Amino acid sequence: MAFSDYRRALVTGASSGIGAATVRRLSAEGLEVYAVARDADRLATLSAETGCRSCAVDVNNLDALAALAQSAEFDVLINNAGQSRRGNILDTTPDDVDALIDVNLRAVLHLTRLIVPGMAKRDRGHVVNISSIAGHYAFGGGNTVYHATKAGIHSLSQQLRVDLYGTRVRVTEVSPARVETEVFGRLLGDLAEAKRRFFDDYEALQPEDIANSIAFAIGSPARMNVAFMEVLPTQQVVGGLNFAQRSRQTAT
Ligand SMILES: NC(=O)c1ccc[n+]([C@@H]2O[C@H](COP(=O)([O-])OP(=O)(O)OC[C@H]3O[C@@H](n4cnc5c(N)ncnc54)[C@H](OP(=O)(O)O)[C@@H]3O)[C@@H](O)[C@H]2O)c1
Repeated sequence: MAFSDYRRALVTGASSGIGAATVRRLSAEGLEVYAVARDADRLATLSAETGCRSCAVDVNNLDALAALAQSAEFDVLINNAGQSRRGNILDTTPDDVDALIDVNLRAVLHLTRLIVPGMAKRDRGHVVNISSIAGHYAFGGGNTVYHATKAGIHSLSQQLRVDLYGTRVRVTEVSPARVETEVFGRLLGDLAEAKRRFFDDYEALQPEDIANSIAFAIGSPARMNVAFMEVLPTQQVVGGLNFAQRSRQTAT
């Protein structure tokens, strides 16, 4: 498959960061892109810039997702919308659990089951799921629910490939490390503070780096399925082992 084999794409989480960069890249490749997010104003701006279709939809709204999926035949589905939360399981709230499972996992499963059968029937399509290194590794500072939902994205991507075996529908999981987007600003409720704390002193990936990775997978020949891409900043590595000293443990 090449970009010319595909006509239409749906990108979730399109109003900022990786999603917006992906809309720009896929539009430049000639695809008609349906851009999904909640912020209608930002989507309108993106639409004026790229020609994408603005779809102001909350991915938690199942009826809206079903209507969207029925409104057109999609050749490319980019499951990108995602949220995170601060803290770990020791201070996780009921809303943290529900919100992250709903956006990061439940919506992805629903959109996939709504759109992929059409791809399989037409024997043409590409699903790209954005997970995270959080889905593959444990590390301090990560939110437990976020890690679990992203591990779910890895698992469903693996199984989806099995489900689609024998068709020309490809499934790619892209697993980024730190990308300079609004995700940390949304966490802190302060974009400037997030920039100062997470990006000013660190050479992170840019959203275009992930959009280009996605485009590489989509533009690859039909015989080739880029199943998994882990994309890290050169200056960031995953590794390390923690071992608390006895003297620091609480006596029981
Ligand atoms: N940035 C990183 O370091 C990093 C690393 C690994 C993985 N990721 C993953 O990359 C993906 C994109 O995140 P990003 O980094 O680009 O962050 P971002 O700039 O915060 O973008 C998140 C996007 O998700 C949309 N979204 C959130 N909740 C939604 C909902 N209920 N319905 C519809 N859209 C919703 C937001 O749009 P609205 O607010 O307009 O709805 C926004 O467009 C996420 O899945 C994230 O977990 C990011």
